[in-house]
Amino acid sequence: MHLPPCPRRVLLGVTGSISAAHTPTQVLALRQLFGAEVRVVLTPAATQFVAPRALAVMSGAEVLGVEARPVTSPAVDHVEVASWADLLLVLPATADFLARTAAGTAPDLLGAAVLAAACPVVVVPSMNHVMWRKPVVQRNADQLRADGIGVVPPVHGVALADGSSGEGATPPLTEVLRWVAAWSREREAVSA
Ligand SMILES: Cc1cc2nc3c(=O)[nH]c(=O)nc-3n(C[C@H](O)[C@H](O)[C@H](O)COP(=O)(O)O)c2cc1C
Repeated sequence: MHLPPCPRRVLLGVTGSISAAHTPTQVLALRQLFGAEVRVVLTPAATQFVAPRALAVMSGAEVLGVEARPVTSPAVDHVEVASWADLLLVLPATADFLARTAAGTAPDLLGAAVLAAACPVVVVPSMNHVMWRKPVVQRNADQLRADGIGVVPPVHGVALADGSSGEGATPPLTEVLRWVAAWSREREAVSA
């Protein structure tokens, strides 16, 4: 199989969708199949769907967003990870995360990293098909596109949480990276 290219340093943002349960194997694939270095930032809600320790082991790096730094720490994690990354990929991205990002709010480390990122930011929405079709969710996705953020189109699938079927599922990782590569080429052509 011909694999798409993958940026070298991937900052993976994980939000509170049931499909976050897939992220440990996706992190491993990013490293072993695509040769990427991966760091992971979780939202507080994501920790209910995926074990931070599994992500730490699979990524080989400290997982951020789980435990607050001591107030005496000089760490500025959102700036540090954002400037480290060649790609900030939010997989999966909840409806709530899309809304917050469209509004430019940063109540957590991942939101702050999105605002601090100079690298491309791509989100992979994952939700029930009724949620995805809601006008407000579509408006938020349009706003993100208008702001230069890549929005990977969800595919038809069966929702893990409720068994309903429709458009709202995340594509397989290889398809996500293929989409990111095509989107990046288009961006570069426009800015050249
Ligand atoms: C079992 C369960 C599954 C959920 N799955 C999704 C989902 O797939 N997509 C989504 O947008 N929200 C989903 N939610 C709702 C989010 O967890 C909720 O909006 C949360 O506040 C998102 O937080 P975050 O965006 O900060 O990670 C789910 C909630 C529950 C209880």
